[in-house]
Amino acid sequence: MANITPKDRVVIFDTTLRDGEQCPGATMTLDEKLAVAEVLDGMGVDIIEAGFPIASNGDFEAVSEIARRTKRATIAGLARAIPADIARAGEAVRHAQRGRIHTFVSTSAIHLAHQMRKTQDEVIEIILKTVAQARDLVEDVEWSAMDATRTDIDYLCRCVEAAIRAGATTINLPDTVGYATPQEYGAMFRSVRERVPDADKAIFSVHCHNDLGLAVANSLAGLEGGARQIECTVNGIGERAGNAALEEIVMAIRTRADVMPYDTGIDTTMLTRASKLVSHAANFPVQYNKAIVGRNAFAHESGIHQDGMLKHSETYEIMTPASVGLAKTSLVMGKHSGRAAFKSKLSELGISLSDNQMQDVFERFKDLADRKKHVYDEDIEALVDQNLATAHDRIKLVSLSVIAGTRGPQRATMKIEMDGRTFTEEADGNGPVDAVFNAIHAMVPHDTTLELYQVHAVTEGTDAQAEVSVRLKAGERSVTARGADPDTLVASAKAYLSALNKLSAASVRLHAQHAAVV
Ligand code: KIV
Ligand code: ZN
Repeated sequence: MANITPKDRVVIFDTTLRDGEQCPGATMTLDEKLAVAEVLDGMGVDIIEAGFPIASNGDFEAVSEIARRTKRATIAGLARAIPADIARAGEAVRHAQRGRIHTFVSTSAIHLAHQMRKTQDEVIEIILKTVAQARDLVEDVEWSAMDATRTDIDYLCRCVEAAIRAGATTINLPDTVGYATPQEYGAMFRSVRERVPDADKAIFSVHCHNDLGLAVANSLAGLEGGARQIECTVNGIGERAGNAALEEIVMAIRTRADVMPYDTGIDTTMLTRASKLVSHAANFPVQYNKAIVGRNAFAHESGIHQDGMLKHSETYEIMTPASVGLAKTSLVMGKHSGRAAFKSKLSELGISLSDNQMQDVFERFKDLADRKKHVYDEDIEALVDQNLATAHDRIKLVSLSVIAGTRGPQRATMKIEMDGRTFTEEADGNGPVDAVFNAIHAMVPHDTTLELYQVHAVTEGTDAQAEVSVRLKAGERSVTARGADPDTLVASAKAYLSALNKLSAASVRLHAQHAAVV
């Protein structure tokens, strides 16, 4: 049995790019994945699960490229307990400084009977073979018992023993369906570690889903049970209600070091930046009252709290905004601000751009400063994200004018550029947004369902930029995209076109309407 000592190091395994990206609409482009991996590596994440290489060529390419570029973290590729999956994962992590194959199989009776249609003994054989295959390819092999928390404990121990015997170096026992309570989850680790003979040869890992809102509590209870790796995602994105949130786990351990004497090695001042980046890349807004990274997480509204804060910040603050990298929202600059000031603002926000990107974003900033009195940090971040998201777009908005008001029908006149050609269209709609989307549809016929249309203000004030999120579904694939602009209708058009661009990048067929070419 591994000796657990105070201030034990807890390994942070981030699965934002795999389990996180798996949730509806959170698809990221290769560039977005590379940017997220760079920030995760920079903040000290130990293992980045970069994708599921057999799932698609895009996933394979992302895992391989992240493996090639990442300087510090171990790069993991996911594989089912199938030889072809494991071979593909091995190929994808081949160029990593440190590569890991993470292979999993279901172990609960309900999964074996209805999904796998295999006996318990057959699954043990599969574990022995597939873990050994992975171990032939890489030194570092993680094995997961899918639906571990609903698995008979005797059988779970047999599976873990088999995986360790075959060479697994990390054993992950996920609460796949978010069903466990903290007491049960901690006890499961204690029991498995006590009963499996060679348990000390592997690091045990927690992986919790948030269906009952217990993912973080369960993960921490797993540590008490002897686990020393935590699988989590930035902003808690993931299947259904999501995964345990990285920032919550890291800050809970740091803030309550008195009762959780562990060390995660994470630079917590990068948490806010990582949250914003993932929110934009995955097009997943962060709820206002989300712990650590929500907009209200450090806002004190009531008179009594404000009074206490003014007298002594610790009266109502258990951690400082600075400790999670939150600078006070500052008024940035106006139209007279120069390139040098803008550049230094970007570096203060942790954003680095190539010279070309910088030039482009600076021009957009000047344009915005002409139209908007105060330009805030959030405005600049929205500009940068828009720029990165649209740099390689096939379809671009050229111009838009809309007739709106009480007397319908509302009418949109739009010009776009697609594959180097310009198209224009006029369309009516039941409201201005409908007219805008109808004009796009007329120019770029496509077969999709609009699953989400959401508007929020980037900052306060009536001249604030509107940020629009649009989710489109084409067949089995759904993508979400955002557009930002002081004009809500322009932001809506940008968001819709950005979603079409993402679909087009994912090889969904879009047709330019030749009749409308000008
Ligand atoms: O939730 C789960 O069980 C998983 C496994 C693939 C580890 O994501
Ligand atoms: Zn999961």
